[in-house]
Amino acid sequence: MTLLTIWDETDTTTPTVQTRDTDTIVEALTPLGVRFSRWELKELSANPTQDEVLEAYRTEIDAVNAEHGYTFVDVVFIAPSEDPSYAETAATARQKFLSEHQHDDDEDRFFARGSGVFYLRVAGNVYAVLCEEGDVISVPANTTHWFDMGTRPDYVSVRFFHDDDGWIGNFTGSDIATKFSTYDELAAVTV
Ligand SMILES: [Fe+2]
Repeated sequence: MTLLTIWDETDTTTPTVQTRDTDTIVEALTPLGVRFSRWELKELSANPTQDEVLEAYRTEIDAVNAEHGYTFVDVVFIAPSEDPSYAETAATARQKFLSEHQHDDDEDRFFARGSGVFYLRVAGNVYAVLCEEGDVISVPANTTHWFDMGTRPDYVSVRFFHDDDGWIGNFTGSDIATKFSTYDELAAVTV
């Protein structure tokens, strides 16, 4: 289940909020301009292609595009494997957006499978949203954030874009991301 953890950015140890309650999560994220919702999961094969995922969620994706003006949608995949190349691929993928950054475009994601944590740093607080399969989240353009997919990344995720280079990160140079609980730590939380 989705987990929201909020810290004051000056106290990285004790969360002010930690909840799995959907209404509380939506209530906390709405003032940030973040949309959070869930889609009913569709059946996918073990190793789905991009087209299979897009087709399965065509109705939902078309509705998001119509409402928010997205012009380009793709699917990103990473699946755990015993193959030696997985460790390196995983570490490289994890590192890419693990430091605080912003984008010129909104960053919208749907998790068709697996999970990941979006950390949003807004107005002196850090909001960590551990998204699970079925979750849809939007990070508004220019919101300072980072993303942790954990040490064994495992997800199938749909991304929405307004333009071709919206995904490019403008890194802030802050080391704040190193100070908060990681994906692995949040995934182990039992509340
Ligand atoms: Fe990002």
